[in-house]
Amino acid sequence: MRETFVNFFKERGHAYISSASLIPENDPTVLFTTAGMHPLVPYLLGEKHPAGKRLVDFQKCVRTGDIDEVGDASHLTFFEMLGNWSLGDYFKEESIDFSYTLLTQVLGIKPDQLSVTAFAGDADAPRDEETANLWKSHGLRDDQIYFYGKADNWWGPAGMTGPCGPDTEIFFDDGRPKCGPDCGPSCHCGKFTEIWNNVFMQYNKNADGSFSPLQQKNVDTGMGLERILRILNGKETVYDTPLFAPIISKIEELTGKKYGENVDDTRAFRIICDHMRAATFMLGDGVVPAKVGQGYILRRLIRRSSRYMSKLGYEEPFMQKISEVIVANYSKAYPELESNKDFIYTNISNEELKFHKAVMKGLRRFDQMVAENGDNPVLNGETVFRLFDTYGFPVEMTIELAAEKGLKVDMNDFNSRFKTHQDTSRADSNQTFKGGLADHSEETTKLHTATHLLNAALRRFVSPDIMQKGSNITAERLRFDFNLDRKVTPEELKQIEEFVNECIKAEIPVVCEEMPYEEARDKGVIGVFTNKYGERVKVYTIGDVSAEMCGGPHVKNTSELQGFKILKEESSAAGIRRIKAVVGKFD
Ligand code: ALA
Repeated sequence: MRETFVNFFKERGHAYISSASLIPENDPTVLFTTAGMHPLVPYLLGEKHPAGKRLVDFQKCVRTGDIDEVGDASHLTFFEMLGNWSLGDYFKEESIDFSYTLLTQVLGIKPDQLSVTAFAGDADAPRDEETANLWKSHGLRDDQIYFYGKADNWWGPAGMTGPCGPDTEIFFDDGRPKCGPDCGPSCHCGKFTEIWNNVFMQYNKNADGSFSPLQQKNVDTGMGLERILRILNGKETVYDTPLFAPIISKIEELTGKKYGENVDDTRAFRIICDHMRAATFMLGDGVVPAKVGQGYILRRLIRRSSRYMSKLGYEEPFMQKISEVIVANYSKAYPELESNKDFIYTNISNEELKFHKAVMKGLRRFDQMVAENGDNPVLNGETVFRLFDTYGFPVEMTIELAAEKGLKVDMNDFNSRFKTHQDTSRADSNQTFKGGLADHSEETTKLHTATHLLNAALRRFVSPDIMQKGSNITAERLRFDFNLDRKVTPEELKQIEEFVNECIKAEIPVVCEEMPYEEARDKGVIGVFTNKYGERVKVYTIGDVSAEMCGGPHVKNTSELQGFKILKEESSAAGIRRIKAVVGKFD
């Protein structure tokens, strides 16, 4: 399916670009890459893409909004999105023509099985009759075309601000009768499955909530790989597609249970499949389990998997075994899994062991707590919270254990403690939402360039092995994460700060060049070098100080930064340090 999709668009003038990391590289306003357009935001806003104006890819994505829903027929945390883009090139007509042709002529879906939507119009953008007429020109009947408002028929921005627009969503209609007079694509009765979304990205949502026209009219599309495979294979759920079959077999082999035999076990199988796949891919992109941010989500996925494997009656270490199956099955499409497999297996097994030990300790503590609770039939919220916070007990586990002893759990009290905890531990990641995705203001542009200088200075004065492990830029400050097993000393910080300020004083021009990936790599340019063979990349060079692969934008001359100051150096996760810094005039 990946190949069919990519080839179809290649034949129509699109350049294939490889999947970006799950960790957003520039201006992350969310923890993970959530859509194919996410890594392309600078180009949707008008930066020139080195591969051209027509792009196609399949992108790994993670959406963490409903981790607790995973286990039903459709929810997934990790999924793959097939997409094609026009960056100020073709617009509605070709986009709809491409989608219609691929679906009906290549994939063999009958025109009668399609339903589509168009934007109904409001104060921000007009009713999209053009889209409806284009679908009609392909033979779709009026009763296959539905108009919806912003809630259903507008996509983006991915964060608080950024590119967005009205869309036309394409649904597969399984042919069953409508569930009622209002049944349509937005109904959840199961008749309609969204398979493709074509967004006509021509607006930018601003921080004040208003919409302004973008420099260029873009097309951004996304087709869920798991969903289209479910439809094409005629299956009831995404878990019944060939994507999950080897993982399910492995769990069956380990546990001796059969997938699909009873409701609870089936749910456990699905949760393990989804969570282990997401965890393997996150580790493959360098995320490590941690208390906050991406690492916190990874930890939750690993712990939940462990929990559900116990529910299937399996108490031995299993994570590496399942990860191996995932790496084997996905490495052709995502070679980074193969190259990072040792890192994946080591970290997944360590975290599994750590959780196992904590649970063992917690279980002893739990018995003590029950004894201390005396005759009270309710286990208080503080105890439950302590089990969660200190021993990593998922709360549903405490509820079950308590029930075995005939006890209830004070969930109101637990929930209020949990909320305070969440607010604190997420405060950090929420900061990212304030900046706004791809806020390409003058300030963030300066901070982007400052980040390159900082990265170069760290490699020069601290260790040549330092690599960027994360970057987050708001209008107020830069935040740069990098690998290092120790603190950066105050002397080193001083040296770095002085060096960056010298570069600023030296008024060095910042030069952007496009070149083949191989050339950039061979020249010793730094950047995220995974899986970009055969692609053209942009390299920003700052004199002989820095040459880094990057989407931009950057200032034209280092003098624009005026000055550079490090605010803080701290630990971010195991083996990862973090520096926060600002630019401007400092006296
Ligand atoms: N960005 C659009 C989506 O995620 C295509 O649905």
